[in-house]
Formats: sequence, structure tokens, C-alpha cells
Amino acid sequence: MARVTWLFVSLFWTVTTAIHTAKFFAPDNKTKQILNPFVQLNARSALHCSMACLDRMNCFTYSVTKGSGSVDCRLSSTYDPQRILNSDSSFYYREVTAAGYNPVPGTLSYVRTVVDRTKDWPHAEADCETVGGRLAVDNNQQIHDYISQAIVALGIYAHPAQYYGYFWIGGYSSTDYLHWRLLDGTTVNITGPGTGPFHASEPEAGTNCLEIAVYPVPDPTCCSAKWGGDMCNWISWTSGYFCEIKIPN
Ligand SMILES: *[C@@H]1O[C@H](CO)[C@@H](O)[C@H](O)[C@H]1NC(C)=O
Ligand SMILES: *[C@@H]1O[C@H](CO)[C@@H](O)[C@H](O)[C@H]1NC(C)=O
Repeated sequence: MARVTWLFVSLFWTVTTAIHTAKFFAPDNKTKQILNPFVQLNARSALHCSMACLDRMNCFTYSVTKGSGSVDCRLSSTYDPQRILNSDSSFYYREVTAAGYNPVPGTLSYVRTVVDRTKDWPHAEADCETVGGRLAVDNNQQIHDYISQAIVALGIYAHPAQYYGYFWIGGYSSTDYLHWRLLDGTTVNITGPGTGPFHASEPEAGTNCLEIAVYPVPDPTCCSAKWGGDMCNWISWTSGYFCEIKIPN
């Protein structure tokens, strides 16, 4: 029996040293250490650290740092934790298996479309975070096209006179309606309504959370989505939100 057990461990180890485990992947640049883990422990080996992550539903990445006799095992509840270069460390991320997330071609992102009229921006963001993600960051053409097409496919458009059709995305303002910060840290500053990625009548002064909408005819911008702003706790115009899991590179 001892021999059989050893054989199993040995095979498992052989497999896991190649890709760590079937459930985790190493990014291109993996010599990174997680800075703000939600769990930090001494593990006997990298394998034990990966098992500690697997044991926790809300662990999506981990790093192991070589020590003497054990490893510093750090677990994070996001796919994009703060991390620093450390040549004694290895960083791994969990396979994306969350329901509803589809890969966006040409990117490292998976996006989920949620139709839900009941969530304000903070609650929508909290929902995305339960699977290690965030509200979607609309700062590349592929993600933008994916979101635009998803809204068109749903047929949930914004009309100037109809109070729905707006979907929360990952950005907010902590200063005024001309200065926006996306959840990946990118800043977008505009000079007034209708400038930058915003719709002609957006954003309005006093709004501080970012949303996106497709305005159909007679809007000449149809059917590429345009940004709008809304008060973060306001749900009257909300039709849903887009969550994103971006795997680390
Ligand atoms: C990994 O990232 C660090 C900075 O975070 C960089 O200095 C280093 O060159 C990168 N290594 C590779 C192999 O890309
Ligand atoms: C936007 O404005 C903020 C605050 O003034 C500034 O820190 C940031 O660098 C600006 N971003 C861009 C892209 O210009």
C-alpha cells in the first residue's frame, strides 16, 4: 500500500512540476510574490500551497517563496493581486471555470454579461469579485467590441426617453465627472460631455460611476457602445453589468 501511495504521489508530482497542477497555470512572468494575501502560511512544499488554494473557494492565485525547510505560501482572492518581482518566488493562477465567463478573442480576458436591474455599481462589483474578477475594463478594442455586440444581441438599448439600457462597467470618479479611473488603474480625463468614449449627452455633472450603453437609431454611433455616467447607488436606469476576469501575464 505504501508503494502504491508513493507511486500516486510521484505521478502527481511529475505532472504538477510541469504545469503545477491541472487546476493552476503559470503566467509568462511567474517570478512574482503576492503583496497583500488574504491567507499567508508556511507550507511544506509548493504542492501543499496549491492544495491550500484549491481548498478555498475564494482563492484564485497564489505565490510560493522558497525558505529553509518550508515555503512562504500566499493566497489571494483576485486574479490580479498586487505582486512584486522576487526571484525566489513563483506565482500561479487558477483555471477560469466560473459560470458564464467567455473568453474574449485576442485578449487575456473572460467576460460575463449579466442582465440584472437590481444592482447598483458597488453590488455589481462585489458580484464580479466573488469569482476573482471585477467589473469589465473597457480599454481595448476587443473588449469594447465584445460588450457592444453582447448588448446588441440582447437588444437592450438606451433611448433618450427610456430609463434603462445602461450596464455598469469598471470605472468611477472620485473627483468630478471629467476625471475617471478604470479598475486596472488607467485614467481617462475628458473636457466635457460627449468627449472621449462618452455618448454625446454623457456624462452629466454629479455622476461618479461608469456605465455603457448602445443607442440605436437615430443615433449615428449605433451600434458601438458609448460610455455614460450615473450615480453609483442609482439603479433606475440599470439593465445589468459586465464582469471580467483577466488572467495575469
Ligand atoms: C518580469 O517582470 C519584471 C517586472 O515586473 C521585469 O523586470 C522582468 O524583466 C520580467 N521578466 C520576464 C522574463 O519577462
Ligand atoms: C488625469 O487626471 C489626473 C488628475 O489630474 C492625473 O493624475 C492623470 O495623470 C490624468 N490622466 C491622463 C491620462 O492624462
